[in-house]
Amino acid sequence: MCGILGYIGKEAKLSLFLDGLSRLEYRGYDSCGVVGIKDRKLFIQKRPGKIHELRRELRDFINEKFPVGIFHTRWATHGKPNEVNAHPHTDCKQQIAIVHNGIVENYLKLKQELIKEGHKFVSETDTEVIAHLIEKFYKKSLEDAVSKAIKKLKGSFALGVISKNEPEKLIAVRKGSPLIIGLGKNGNFIASDIPAILPFAKEVVYLKDEEMAVIKKESIEIFHFKGSPVKLEIEKVKIKPEDAEKNNFAHFMLKEIHEQPEVLRKILSLYDNKNAIHFPQINLSEDFFKHLKNVFIAACGTAYHAGYVAKYFLEAYCGLDVELDASSEFRYRRLNITKNDLLITISQSGETADTLAAIRDIKERGIKVLSICNVIGSTLAKESDGIIFTHAGPEIGVASTKAYTAQIMTLILLCLYIARMRSSISAQEMRNALKELSLIPGYQKEILAKESEIKKIAKEFSKFGCFLFLGRGINYPSALEGALKLKEISYIPAEGYPAGEMKHGPIALIDEYRGVVCIAPKDFLYEKMISNMQEIKARKGKILAIVNYGDNEAERLSDAVIRMPKLKNQNFSPLLVAVGLQLFAYYVAKNLGHDIDQPRNLAKSVTVE
Ligand code: G6P
Repeated sequence: MCGILGYIGKEAKLSLFLDGLSRLEYRGYDSCGVVGIKDRKLFIQKRPGKIHELRRELRDFINEKFPVGIFHTRWATHGKPNEVNAHPHTDCKQQIAIVHNGIVENYLKLKQELIKEGHKFVSETDTEVIAHLIEKFYKKSLEDAVSKAIKKLKGSFALGVISKNEPEKLIAVRKGSPLIIGLGKNGNFIASDIPAILPFAKEVVYLKDEEMAVIKKESIEIFHFKGSPVKLEIEKVKIKPEDAEKNNFAHFMLKEIHEQPEVLRKILSLYDNKNAIHFPQINLSEDFFKHLKNVFIAACGTAYHAGYVAKYFLEAYCGLDVELDASSEFRYRRLNITKNDLLITISQSGETADTLAAIRDIKERGIKVLSICNVIGSTLAKESDGIIFTHAGPEIGVASTKAYTAQIMTLILLCLYIARMRSSISAQEMRNALKELSLIPGYQKEILAKESEIKKIAKEFSKFGCFLFLGRGINYPSALEGALKLKEISYIPAEGYPAGEMKHGPIALIDEYRGVVCIAPKDFLYEKMISNMQEIKARKGKILAIVNYGDNEAERLSDAVIRMPKLKNQNFSPLLVAVGLQLFAYYVAKNLGHDIDQPRNLAKSVTVE
């Protein structure tokens, strides 16, 4: 939520940084702004709307060069997304400018105190108090003032701060919200995420929690909030600039849907070591897994649905009982977790506030946390006992696609790994499973090849005002995820339900104006799904079914079908079902003319509670 980009160094054109900021737009896109220093004056431009609108407004300045600047794209928490509330924010004297990602929880109290002291506020934001607090403490040194100001703040904040009085400095602060420092040939950078600085920097430093950096053209100094200096740990950037581009696709979402076969191949090649699964950073012993009692899973959004698939797997293959929660619920439950239990968290970004809160409480109790995460260098990756990366590459479309199937594939491998340690499956069963998993990327390609068919179906179905997604067993989570994808980008109300629960309420919705998506692979629950489809048909519901090739019975009951290969192990079918449902949601939204990569009100990385 909110993207920050900052720069200090050899002067470069404003337009370059607006390009960089655009690569952070997935974090929030309701308003944006920029501040640079020139001739000891602040140059500020902000506006509601997206970065292309700011670019239009700045057209006369687009080649303007600043030796230092900070940029921001906002997802509003406090105050409407208008020009006044957009970042950067300044102090009364317009000498200090800041951008912020996070929430200042005690801002009201601080604001009242600062108003009493004579400070004049212009916005409704929590962020503005930080600018005034820095002003209050500002004597000669910007870093001293920032370090005093942040001690007064409660909540989470990543900050970029500059002052016209000290144009040779850019201050970066991190508590709770992510911030990296990029080291480039022509200067140094700060950013909420790596894609923003890909063309500028090949090396990065991940600022840790409660660290502050004083960044100059040719130097970087990091200090802990308590004042002690911190050694710079420089890491190479592993992502290529083209990984964060759309290439020839109309949207990032479509590109990412098409990347799935390659991503799954990569995961298998990294973790399947000649039929023995190997996770280099799992950091949990065989003995731990042998004595493991219960597993708890916490995640949000799409990652929660991947966790739901894993729950079915862990129960079926490892003989473990699994409790699954949305992280925002998990963190407030009073659970009797013991040291023989394991918390698994799943997160694409590794920065989701609720998921981070869930692990912190558990870790304090000495319980092990294993995380499945896509972003190397993320807070979740750093704070977990063990980590398995999903290696899906940057996911920029707000609606998660490739990260989801990457999470499921990684979790299936984890389940097989644990099952072997607990001897709940044989070596042969493991080999068979890995063999079939190696076929999944090819099968996904078969579904991707049906894109134009799915596009036609989506056109037909985009007239319905409401959708039910029904699945059973391991494809119940597929129904939840299919409904989430559709509502995120098409804004059509859609509910995912276990098909067996249909008669307990959702059946009341069904008539000729509703679309019902039935996930009906030929598995042991198939006959029951067919009965549900009969019931829907009898009530004139319009059925789109996800079926295996040659399933005439399901096809006869359906108005449209997406066909997929039949697997020997149908437990892997969520990896195929997802692709069909993602394309369906994509084309419904496209048909309705929505902004697919940046749906309204959403943000990709939810760094506030
Ligand atoms: C937001 C995104 C979702 C994502 C969820 C969890 O809601 O829009 O796509 O699934 O956060 O994010 P995480 O990074 O923890 O997987």
